[in-house]
Amino acid sequence: MPEIDTPELVGEVIVSEEKIAECIEAMAGQIETSYGNADNILAIVLLEGARQFANDLFEKIDTGKFEIQYISANSYYGGTQSIGNVNLQQPEISIKNRDVLVIDEIYDTGLTLKNVVEKLKEQQPKSIRTCVFLDKDVEKQQKIEIDFVGMKVPNKFLIGYGLDYKERYRELPYIAELNQSATFTS
Ligand code: IMP
Ligand code: MG
Repeated sequence: MPEIDTPELVGEVIVSEEKIAECIEAMAGQIETSYGNADNILAIVLLEGARQFANDLFEKIDTGKFEIQYISANSYYGGTQSIGNVNLQQPEISIKNRDVLVIDEIYDTGLTLKNVVEKLKEQQPKSIRTCVFLDKDVEKQQKIEIDFVGMKVPNKFLIGYGLDYKERYRELPYIAELNQSATFTS
């Protein structure tokens, strides 16, 4: 097996740290405006990928209004192709009659968000809105309305800022393209 931490896996930088910060500031403003005086909003953050984004986003928002819960929704299982088989592990969160905001870091095929939103709707929230940091420029397998979008990104497999390849590179402070030609099998 090749050396795992081969630096050549980190390709071209697609979104810089500065761009990330600017975009999050703008999104925080949009979300605050959109919810107005609403209180006790339930934010559901999809792990692991959206954790970093949600942390930075809520740092800029009046967090007292939001209950923040994290759920596990995994569609990649270590590869670079979404297989759409979402494994939703939902703790005991009361959703009925709540304003719910679902947060993911990237809208790719749409399978994950669609699945999560459908499952949450069964529990009769008062409203359900969606927020993603990145919208990948790709034909969606499941279209879903996204209420808050940070920015569009090209149809490439990305790493950094929460996005992983085989649970690596999430911690990069910027978003880069994965250099697929240097990927390893394990
Ligand atoms: P979807 O179900 O195809 O929309 O994919 C959503 C999930 O797949 C995201 O929450 C990410 O965790 C993961 N994902 C999608 N695109 C990428 C990528 O380019 N790099 C790393 N993870 C990705
Ligand atoms: Mg994810």
